[in-house]
Amino acid sequence: MLKKIGVVGAGLMGAEIAFEFARAGYDVLLNDRSDELLEAARTRLNGLWNKGLARGFYSEDAGSPLDRMSFNADLKSFADRQIVFEAVFEDEQVKGDTWALLDGICDAETIFCTNTSTIAISTLAAHVAVARRPRFVGTHFFSPVSRMKLVEVMPGFETDEAVVEEMFGHLKAAEKHPIRIKDVTGFAVNRLLHVFMIEAVRLVEEGVATPEDIDTACRLGLGHPIGPFELMDAVTLSLCEQAQEIMHASYGERFRPRPLLKQKVRAGHNGRKAGQGWKSYD
Ligand SMILES: NC(=O)c1ccc[n+]([C@@H]2O[C@H](COP(=O)([O-])OP(=O)(O)OC[C@H]3O[C@@H](n4cnc5c(N)ncnc54)[C@H](O)[C@@H]3O)[C@@H](O)[C@H]2O)c1
Repeated sequence: MLKKIGVVGAGLMGAEIAFEFARAGYDVLLNDRSDELLEAARTRLNGLWNKGLARGFYSEDAGSPLDRMSFNADLKSFADRQIVFEAVFEDEQVKGDTWALLDGICDAETIFCTNTSTIAISTLAAHVAVARRPRFVGTHFFSPVSRMKLVEVMPGFETDEAVVEEMFGHLKAAEKHPIRIKDVTGFAVNRLLHVFMIEAVRLVEEGVATPEDIDTACRLGLGHPIGPFELMDAVTLSLCEQAQEIMHASYGERFRPRPLLKQKVRAGHNGRKAGQGWKSYD
């Protein structure tokens, strides 16, 4: 029987996690801090659906995923959810308080999944009762969730193996590709990615090549869909710096953010949304 899913945080990640499970036929409830934020998420998802239909990515056979979604700003509506994904701000206090609240609302059997990028899964699991911790697991999605298949699945110290297996099944049902990763800082993908980005910035600092030419090299020479500078501009340079600082604290020199990256962030050249990053945007 398909499960009832709840997603807390209707931002960039949470809204599309909800959308992907609704697309797979699950009954999905999406929560955020206000009705206005939920309305904005609904509008964005509706646009995503219409664009996907127009481009032939989606078919209308199973109806719109939005018909299987409900939106509620009150977390108490999560009482009947069997799986809950959390994608609120990357802040231990905000995430911890959210999980503590949900622990008091949800059934003892409900599985809790966090989409944290940097906080240890066992640290977040410590915010729920001991009895819940075997049902607490990390599921790290990638942006844009509606296009990226990969999900890193990290069990915490106390996670039950059966819960990991069950989540692999649900993620596959939503056409995702889960891989099992140990609960370490940066998990696996961000460790690979940031070493790569740091070396790309070092090449520019040394005058070896321009950001544009390095992006071209990665697309045409390595088969990457997007170059490292385009990617930094999309996710924001400040987020890259923050992730590198966190991994620098855990692993040392190889993750130290490059001076040029820090200088660009301080100058407000934060990427596409700022109108200026490694290149200019209208
Ligand atoms: N952006 C990425 O590429 C990416 C990739 C992987 C993982 N993540 C992680 O996913 C999580 C969400 O990131 P995002 O990029 O979607 O951020 P975002 O800022 O776009 O969305 C966060 C949402 O959470 C909501 N929120 C905050 N506190 C809340 C609360 N107490 N109750 C309900 N809703 C609350 C906010 O209103 C906002 O809509 C973070 O932990 C982030 O590290 C992000």
